[in-house]
Amino acid sequence: MKNKTVVLGVTGGIAAYKSAEIVSRLRKTGVDVHVVMSRGACNFITPLTLETMSGHPVATEMFHEKTHWEVEHISLAQRADVFVVAPATAHVIAKYAHGLADDMLSTTLLATTAPVLLAPAMNENMWAHPATQANMALLRERGVHVVGPASGLLACGVNGQGRMEEPDVIVDAILDLLETKKDYAGKRVMVTAGPTREAIDPVRYVSNRSSGKMGVALALQARRRGAQVTLVHGPMEVQPPRWVNCVPVETTEQMCQAILQRLDDCDMLIKCAAPADFKAAYPSDQKIKKAGKDNLALDMIPTPDILTAVSEAKKNQVVIGFAAETQDVSAYAKDKMQRKGLDMIVANDVTMPGAGFGVDTNIVTVHKKDGTVYQHPLASKEQIAAFVLDQGITLF
Ligand code: PMT
Repeated sequence: MKNKTVVLGVTGGIAAYKSAEIVSRLRKTGVDVHVVMSRGACNFITPLTLETMSGHPVATEMFHEKTHWEVEHISLAQRADVFVVAPATAHVIAKYAHGLADDMLSTTLLATTAPVLLAPAMNENMWAHPATQANMALLRERGVHVVGPASGLLACGVNGQGRMEEPDVIVDAILDLLETKKDYAGKRVMVTAGPTREAIDPVRYVSNRSSGKMGVALALQARRRGAQVTLVHGPMEVQPPRWVNCVPVETTEQMCQAILQRLDDCDMLIKCAAPADFKAAYPSDQKIKKAGKDNLALDMIPTPDILTAVSEAKKNQVVIGFAAETQDVSAYAKDKMQRKGLDMIVANDVTMPGAGFGVDTNIVTVHKKDGTVYQHPLASKEQIAAFVLDQGITLF
């Protein structure tokens, strides 16, 4: 997302404080963020906060003595790759729908030709009011994008629809609009993520350190590039993404069934999950007691190998596996690719700092079945996901 610019308009609602998190999350992806605030917004959060977080002066006043307003608002409007208003009050929505431009924010908004995303936030009656709904319908008709509002406890103390969507959801929607590469349009991609858990007794289980971050990054990136995505995931540390069809499972057997049931409806399977390879042969119905035991031996049996089952059931699907290795990474990865009938395998040496389980980054080597090899140095899991998909699209 480097070289991309987002202009964030902040208006006067209680959710304005969340704009700081939006700026922070966007900047972490490499996006350059410029903030324009309405006068009302400055009552809820200071320009200094957003100036510090964005690294740029915040535009508030039309006729600021230090800036040349004509140049400033037009240049911001033109610089935007996406213009987002979060929170968007009923007032700014009404002004935008009717072409009113009487302050820095509404003027810049009207002057932009970039895609516009609104994140409405207001009292539920204001949201439900026919005037607001008519304004929203008009804006949607003109191609304006909208995220939320969500339902929940509102600032006025009642439960209802009108809460601004959470910053992660808004940022996700912005990143979708910034992604211009749609090479996965029309493709159905199934991604697996996270660990699985195998019960030892009702309170204990066998699992591993997979957080789900790599798989979720792949699911989001595939969706951003136009794919219809299904995410089959075990119990993850991270939240399952919204707007992706998520299928939660617990055990390796359940993950295997979930994948096989959906295999005919997908064009590509990316098997990033780290399923438990073994399970207790005789899981106890009751909590195993410690008292009176010097040791505890567990009889473990293998779980099904999902990729082997997939290679037997698949038709024309492209199948990509991952290999988490601690030694002889390339040799083991290539062996897995052949044994499991894969089109491509993504090997990560999980002993390297910054690679593999739990962390936000990864280092990978991609082996394709035609013998070609591609490497990616240490990078965020989002960047690695983009690299894996760049390689994956060549397999169709
Ligand atoms: O979730 P994160 O914290 O972000 O970490 C990411 C990751 C390290 C989990 C990911 O990058 C990764 O390497 N995933 C594969 C982990 C794994 O199970 O590797 P493996 O070498 O044991 O298995 C090889 C392949 O067989 C994998 O595609 C795996 O999904 C699959 N498999 C494994 C066991 C099993 N019973 N059935 C399978 O199909």
